[in-house]
Amino acid sequence: MSITPLMPVYPRCGFRPVRGEGAWLISEDGSRALDFAAGIAVNLLGHGHPHLTKAIQDQAATLIHVSNLYGSPQGEAFAQRLVDTTFADTVFFTNSGAEAVECAIKTARAYHQSQGSDRFEIITFKNAFHGRTMATISASNQEKMHKGFMPLLEGFKYVDFDDLEGAKAALGPKTAAFLVEPIQGEGGVRPASDAFMQGLRALADEHGIMLILDEVQCGVARSGTLYAYEQYGITPDIMATAKGLGGGFPVGACLATEEAARGMVVGTHGSTYGGNPFAMAACQAVWDVVANDEFLENVRATGDKVRTSLEQFIGNYPDLFTGVRGKGLMLGVMMTHETRAFVAHLRDNHGLLLVAAGDNTFRVLPPLNITDTEIQIFMEKLSAGAASYQVPQAA
Ligand SMILES: Cc1ncc(COP(=O)(O)O)c(C=O)c1O
Repeated sequence: MSITPLMPVYPRCGFRPVRGEGAWLISEDGSRALDFAAGIAVNLLGHGHPHLTKAIQDQAATLIHVSNLYGSPQGEAFAQRLVDTTFADTVFFTNSGAEAVECAIKTARAYHQSQGSDRFEIITFKNAFHGRTMATISASNQEKMHKGFMPLLEGFKYVDFDDLEGAKAALGPKTAAFLVEPIQGEGGVRPASDAFMQGLRALADEHGIMLILDEVQCGVARSGTLYAYEQYGITPDIMATAKGLGGGFPVGACLATEEAARGMVVGTHGSTYGGNPFAMAACQAVWDVVANDEFLENVRATGDKVRTSLEQFIGNYPDLFTGVRGKGLMLGVMMTHETRAFVAHLRDNHGLLLVAAGDNTFRVLPPLNITDTEIQIFMEKLSAGAASYQVPQAA
């Protein structure tokens, strides 16, 4: 067996980007690809955005990191901005989405246990993706993520996604919380119904348990509102956010109401890097751009344009595509068969980057500031790709 310098856990492809320009990535061999994957919903301002780049450069020259043992004017300032623009009263900063979900799980358990209750169980939903730590793989029913890592952490119950009756039936004396992605990302860009999200909120209120949202993928303007929960007319008790939050800088956050965070007192949680000045500068720069009505309105309008174009296009290929779903610029195209080979074909032969997902769906996750010209190039590449695609025999 030969080992590689990078632990070989990813099925890496031959495209090896070394530079980015807006919605384009340039490979080490000089080839250019249109990036409608955006680092899997991360680079929401594209590559090399001047405001984000300058904020990171300036902060690097000022102060990159200090310990969380010291006061954090930078962390307080950005946490206040999150509090001002969301449901939350308080924030814990992390370095990734999985850590934000971990913090959300701990916050929910601590809420109950700090009051002497032994509720600890979290009800989650099938085909969810919450990350790759032990708690977050345990929170998903996907066996492919469990294999080789048993035993799982106890205390998770899986119910069908968008099945309110199932969620109700799963409630018990030990239930501490529901944990749900309002729009399943990896599971196939599946938006929950209004009735489901509103029903979970009502059940959580009725039973005194927490509603935790995982908006790691669908949050930060991606769905057309700052957070997707706004479109359901509800607010969570606790929410995990990451990916777009730093526009490419690795940062996440767990947001909570004052009530939900009552167990998260001194000494209960921590992170060496979480919320350091470098990360906060990136977040502030992203928020400067995205947290306003004009930007969000434009995401919705651009999302509608891309969706309409996709819906017209798939009608020409009924043997390949069955529909389009999603919200804002988090769109999924459903295929008649597994999507990995088609995504690879578009990448290798047409210079178009997309992301495969579950449920025979591929994800369209462009930067949120794409232009009409880029949408047109995207549709041209997609059309050329569909016209030249041979469905693999086994698919
Ligand atoms: C909904 C959701 N939750 C959590 C995560 C985990 O985030 P990270 O990879 O930053 O740990 C992801 C990553 O794809 C995600 O899509």
